[in-house]
Amino acid sequence: MQPKLGLYVHIPFCSVKCFYCDFASYAGRRDVAARYLSALKTEAAMLGPRTPDTLYIGGGTPSELDAGDIDKLFSLIHESYPKSRFAEVTFEANPESLSEEKLEVLKRWGVSRLSLGLQTTDAALLKSIGRRHSPEDFFSIFRRARALGGWAISVDLMYGLPGQTAASHRKSLEDVLALEPEHLSLYGLHVEDKTVFGRRSVETDEDLGREMYETSLDLIERAGLARYEISNFARPGFESLHNAIYWRDGEYVGLGCGAASHLDGVRGSNTPALIPYCAKIESGVRPTVEQESLSGKEKLGERILLGLRLVEGIDLEEPARREFAREWSELEDLCLVERAGSRVRLSREGVFLANEVFCRFVSPFT
Ligand SMILES: C[S@@+](CC[C@H](N)C(=O)[O-])C[C@H]1O[C@@H](n2cnc3c(N)ncnc32)[C@H](O)[C@@H]1O
Ligand code: SF4
Repeated sequence: MQPKLGLYVHIPFCSVKCFYCDFASYAGRRDVAARYLSALKTEAAMLGPRTPDTLYIGGGTPSELDAGDIDKLFSLIHESYPKSRFAEVTFEANPESLSEEKLEVLKRWGVSRLSLGLQTTDAALLKSIGRRHSPEDFFSIFRRARALGGWAISVDLMYGLPGQTAASHRKSLEDVLALEPEHLSLYGLHVEDKTVFGRRSVETDEDLGREMYETSLDLIERAGLARYEISNFARPGFESLHNAIYWRDGEYVGLGCGAASHLDGVRGSNTPALIPYCAKIESGVRPTVEQESLSGKEKLGERILLGLRLVEGIDLEEPARREFAREWSELEDLCLVERAGSRVRLSREGVFLANEVFCRFVSPFT
């Protein structure tokens, strides 16, 4: 059965703020962990009874919580959604804060996917992007997680980092693939304004980035993982069920600061600010800061651009064919999309120029 409803729980605590990161994440605020967990429980009650099929605990850095708080977090989730039999439970963790004790807690609560944030195995580069852990911290916790067994392990890597060479990226990828993870996420650096890199006006080298991505595709495929989304690769059967809900325009509940929801046709997102999030919940007010309900051509465009992220692409049936006839024809002429039977998907070139494709499906339409 395809999961229908996802549950995302955001844990905003981090050991440091990495120089590229624009997520709702805060270093040195573990003092509010108990207050935050209590707010999560209240927010779940505010949203009313639901029965989500997948659970994704992301961040920030969920492993920044101590073992006792991780245990409380799972308790409150199961108390809030007593009827859920989660088909997949993902927990994001960083090498500097994951421990044997925390792994045992995760095991007990049935975590089926452990997502480890690494970025690179180049020690100097890790320091220069503001990460706190060493490559050895990662190797050590990966091996311990593997020895415990019973879950799929996913690793996050980044390319196009300032000062990163093609050889350094290749080595990171080879180091990770040698560990035989079931899943890999590979992200090109995006320089966001409100980050250290943004303030330093760091520039990315598009050609080098593309070379790194091209090399990665070959190496990853040879290691037995297939690309199933622009940035995601998996061994057969280990694709993320939860993230597939997002890409297939499905529904999800998001709890926590900065979390997004898509429920009953309405997309909403919570304030990313930690203390205002807690304060609003405590005073009985929903922490939503943005809400929109798309319809007609706008809704169709959103569904298309989400689906095009997937290698399987989308079914090009009416009204998607008719409403965007000119766009499809232009994109085919530019060789940015390709047909496979009744389906259409990004071409290899289109994957590199995905934003150029996506902007055609976002209002205002030209
Ligand atoms: C939710 S984030 C953070 C998870 C975890 N705390 C960590 O640091 O690994 C998930 C992933 O997004 C990627 N990411 C974050 N900011 C990015 C950026 N500005 N550009 C590209 N990838 C980014 C990183 O690979 C990161 O591991
Ligand atoms: S990349 Fe991860 S660890 Fe670094 S600040 Fe962002 S969420 Fe926190």
